[in-house]
Amino acid sequence: MKNIKAIIFDAYGTLFDVNSAAEKCKDKIGDKWEPFANFWRTTQLEYTWLRSLMKRHKDFWQITEDSLNKSMKVFNINPSMKNELLDLYKVLSPFREVPDTLRALKKKKFKLAILSNGTPDLLSELVKTNNIENLFDDIFSIEEAGVYKPDSKVYDLPINKYKIKSNEVAFLSANTWDVSGGGNYGYQSIWVNRNNNIFDNLDYKPNNQIKNLSELISLI
Ligand code: LAC
Repeated sequence: MKNIKAIIFDAYGTLFDVNSAAEKCKDKIGDKWEPFANFWRTTQLEYTWLRSLMKRHKDFWQITEDSLNKSMKVFNINPSMKNELLDLYKVLSPFREVPDTLRALKKKKFKLAILSNGTPDLLSELVKTNNIENLFDDIFSIEEAGVYKPDSKVYDLPINKYKIKSNEVAFLSANTWDVSGGGNYGYQSIWVNRNNNIFDNLDYKPNNQIKNLSELISLI
């Protein structure tokens, strides 16, 4: 990849493992923990898109709770577990290779930032609890744009701050729709395809594909 000035990471699913909340409760939830976690995540994302289209914004923490409420009913999970599940979402674990990769990139003097649907509070708590807060130059939350990804106002945020061109950004996401969103916007996109998934049919193909973030070091 050429002429990259900033490396921008999506948070949920890319740096942090969203399934780790439900997984930590798998003894109580039982075998259905994984389909439950996937349903919760999908519902949460659907609510972000629907609220953006309806122009009825609510922040990501409220959406996380709203989608959890529905998911717990669908999967018949004891309502007493709600706060435990929600609180775990605040302390999601990063994928194993994340801290070392960030340190190596930091040495190469790129601007490093997060661009996420998460609220400023949620994101700052996540980086703090995982001891990676010093590795980022900025944490951009969509709350500043008042609308969710993939609205272009969100992808504008780092461009406006760093005064760089969209193709000077390497944008990483594990979420295929977010890769398409950032790539259509003009970022050089990298799809973090950890689980050998199939990409979307949205008339866009990612510029690059990696299996985990450590492969980024040789790409950039
Ligand atoms: C985020 C979601 C898309 O962090 O994962 O913005």
